[in-house]
Amino acid sequence: GCIFILNGPNLNLLGQREPAIYGHETLTDVERACAAVAGQAGAEVRLFQSNHEGEIVEQIHLAREQAAGIVINPAAFTHTSVAILDALNAYDGPVIEVHISNVHKRESFRHHSYVSLRADAVIAGCGVQGYELAVARLLRLID
Ligand code: DQA
Repeated sequence: GCIFILNGPNLNLLGQREPAIYGHETLTDVERACAAVAGQAGAEVRLFQSNHEGEIVEQIHLAREQAAGIVINPAAFTHTSVAILDALNAYDGPVIEVHISNVHKRESFRHHSYVSLRADAVIAGCGVQGYELAVARLLRLID
């Protein structure tokens, strides 16, 4: 099966953006690391990033047909998007929410997540390793 790894706004700048918070690794590094984890189980990953809410909603719709599981870092949309929550509620497979930083250690507006109402698990504060941990967990849930 294929695992979708969906990323929200500004994560295209991962590695350059606020490196003290988000580190120096890029989304390409994340994709490579996750492909290696999935590959050990004979699974594939497909990484997507968009700065546009509706494009993320449409990827979740596509996941209904194509993805055995979803890893999602909705970035700032975590804290604002009922539309992404609703799209995930229309998806039947397992969903894991990832945040690179520990959002609970940061500003209070980052403490609430709409997506957590749907996510089967939430990983925050593990840096980009959180994506690999999420893929490993999804492989277990899908198995
Ligand atoms: C983030 C945390 C969000 O609050 C923030 O808006 C992001 C990234 C993270 O991965 O730590 O863009 O989702």
